Amino acid sequence: MIPEDLAQTHAAAFTDQRPWSAEEFASLMSQTGMILCGDAKSFVLGRVIADEAEVLTLATHPDHQRKGLAQAALAQFLTLAQSKGATRVFLEVSETNTAAKTLYKNNNFSVIGTRPRYYVTATGDKVGADVMQILV
Ligand SMILES: CC(C)(COP(=O)(O)OP(=O)(O)OC[C@H]1O[C@@H](n2cnc3c(N)ncnc32)[C@H](O)[C@@H]1OP(=O)(O)O)[C@@H](O)C(=O)NCCC(=O)NCCS
Repeated sequence: MIPEDLAQTHAAAFTDQRPWSAEEFASLMSQTGMILCGDAKSFVLGRVIADEAEVLTLATHPDHQRKGLAQAALAQFLTLAQSKGATRVFLEVSETNTAAKTLYKNNNFSVIGTRPRYYVTATGDKVGADVMQILV
């Protein structure tokens, strides 16, 4: 997967948040402990630091949603994170993001905290985030 493809999918999927550039993806991917699962249509990018893993972003291009791609990429991410020493995986998700929250709940993530007014939407509104985790 090349950073340009990830940026394209990310921009198409996240219509209400600032898209990440190809340069940002390239920079993240060069860092230690990064895990990238899936493909250009649907991917999970995260990292493992010591015994903790974090999902940094997850996106499926709108042309390919509801086909189980994110589910497959997330399952692969959890397995890889565990194999690299993680005992817990956490992430932040907008409290209004029903699709992602459903996906995470179905994968046994639970809400462990909230961050009020965490995301800024395209219209400038501030939306809270749920912090979710799973023990792996
Ligand atoms: C969230 C997202 C990654 C899901 O990708 P996807 O490939 O369509 O998801 P899957 O097909 O693997 O769906 C797996 C399950 O998640 C849940 N789900 C996915 N999309 C959903 C939606 N729009 N509404 C409700 N539940 C949804 C369902 O339980 C689904 O299973 P089902 O199709 O058998 O009902 C995708 O909607 C997306 O890219 N959204 C924009 C970016 C984003 O919000 N990323 C998460 C940031 S934390």
